[in-house]
Amino acid sequence: MAPRFPSSWVDQVYAAASIVELAQGYLPLQQRGRRHWGLCPFHNEKTASFSVNPELNLYYCFGCKASGNVVQFAMEMEKLSYPEALLYLAQRFNVPPPPVLEEDPLEEQRRSQRERLLEATREAALFYHEQLWLPENSDALDYLHGRGLDDATIRRFGLGASPDDWDRLLSHLSGKGYSLEELQLASLITLRESSRYDTFRHRVMFPIINRYGQPIGFGARALGDAQPKYLNSAESAIFNKRYHVYGINLLRRQRNLEQLILVEGYLDVISLSQAGIRNAVATLGTALTREQVRLIKNYAPEIWIAYDGDEAGQTAALRALDVLRAEMVPARVLRFPEGQDPDDLVRQAGAEGFRALRPLPDIAFRLHRLEGEHDLNQDEEKRRFAVAACQLLHLVSEPVEVDHYLGRISLKTGIAKDVLAQQARKGRQGQDLTAQAPSSAKARAEDFTQRNQSEFTLAALLASGKLPKDLVTVEDFEDSHIRSIAQALLLGRSPVSIMEDAADASLRALAGELFNRLPDLDEEGSLAAAEDCLRQIRVSRLGRRIEELRAELKAQNAEEQVITLQLIAQLREELNKQSSFQVH
Ligand code: UTP
Ligand code: MN
Repeated sequence: MAPRFPSSWVDQVYAAASIVELAQGYLPLQQRGRRHWGLCPFHNEKTASFSVNPELNLYYCFGCKASGNVVQFAMEMEKLSYPEALLYLAQRFNVPPPPVLEEDPLEEQRRSQRERLLEATREAALFYHEQLWLPENSDALDYLHGRGLDDATIRRFGLGASPDDWDRLLSHLSGKGYSLEELQLASLITLRESSRYDTFRHRVMFPIINRYGQPIGFGARALGDAQPKYLNSAESAIFNKRYHVYGINLLRRQRNLEQLILVEGYLDVISLSQAGIRNAVATLGTALTREQVRLIKNYAPEIWIAYDGDEAGQTAALRALDVLRAEMVPARVLRFPEGQDPDDLVRQAGAEGFRALRPLPDIAFRLHRLEGEHDLNQDEEKRRFAVAACQLLHLVSEPVEVDHYLGRISLKTGIAKDVLAQQARKGRQGQDLTAQAPSSAKARAEDFTQRNQSEFTLAALLASGKLPKDLVTVEDFEDSHIRSIAQALLLGRSPVSIMEDAADASLRALAGELFNRLPDLDEEGSLAAAEDCLRQIRVSRLGRRIEELRAELKAQNAEEQVITLQLIAQLREELNKQSSFQVH
């Protein structure tokens, strides 16, 4: 459970933490006007489009639309959770630590047990690591050396050896005061009827470490062909496979990663790391979950799947693509020769060999798989392939891309491109493509502003605090995101706190853009601009309502039509009145 802090203390941290000072620790900033500018730490760029606004204590990048407040900046840069970021800033800006809140005793108990299990797991990891260097466990060290790992890598990943005996860990940890129950709950020992023994024996130990650097479990590999090949910690209060990935602890301090490489095995992560490729993480022996994607998606803008070259690996890659798509993460697939995994390849061909691999975009990979399932020398199969391939193109939102793939399908099947295009359009209507296609925060923010420029400007005017109180109401906003920002402003909330609640990435991008586009107008100018926006909003609403009524006419009888036509005439008059204002 995340600790809860008193809100007065949180306010104190916000007041003390200066975003300019904090950001300067990561990138040089130059003051121009009221803002400070620098190269954006969240994307690669050559001209400074990253701005820091000391008045609002917010940052905003005009390039990639990354935005947030001072706490969110600390979270992104240091890869911290929200409470961690608050504590970090408190320390940095000399705010005394938070008073301890009254605790629910049950919660207290659960937390202290969790902490005990974490401590026991850390002790076990240290124990296994020390064992690795002892002569009696030399077969484990030899095994790791035999797989090409050097001692520095072994230390970086904290690898270890579990002795070929029944109760070494048990007596070591009992001696440190851990109870049998605790050790069993951490799946370090196994209790069976009257016997108890170490769960992991005579295996190479891979500690699984979470993003806060805490060991939470183990993968344990047999030295030879013993079965199972890997034995893993059971699920527990501190270890849940769905929520963790191997190697994340080492990503923590890396910035500006262009992509994450997602692999299947512990040894893939480790071998790649030794070769200098330090952006790989692995799932823990199960299919990729949405929780895992949420955990890793903020470390890099793209994920490259690098699963084994065999059939099982390629099928798993396809499923992983679906999960990534559902979480709107742009993804590609690296392919390996049959029977090879990233570990084999990087040992054979080195980092250069690995970097020379060209990843296939999502759709290209799916098409390739589909092609493998059909014998294109047979007409019937060819047609089936064409239909399925055209269906796949529904996942593509850019017309240029659709055209490109149509060309390729046409080449493979000999079916004319315009016929394929017709096929591809089938069933596509009514589908909300933008909702499915992964898109950058930038694209999303642009989408918003184009959709409703007047509402956007009106909200910005509202945020600048120069409008008379009752001029604007929530009802003036139709766009749900703009509306929620406006509503918060109308309730008197500050931009910093609104940003705080904008958990959803697209809402945050929009809020960031909005607060950084505050019009520089005096009160009179603001009022005129707001009235202009309100008029535009009314005009566009009237226009839409008239369109709707017109569409309804077709299905109405004569009597109803008369009433509708009268209504349309009224609305039109109103519309003319509003529009004619605009001229002056
Ligand atoms: P692999 O069999 O591809 O393992 O399984 P690997 O990492 O390449 O291992 P080596 O190279 O043969 O030593 C991929 C992952 O699946 C899980 C582990 O997490 C492993 O890293 N796994 C595999 C298990 O949990 N149990 C098993 O018996 C096998
Ligand atoms: Mn392997």
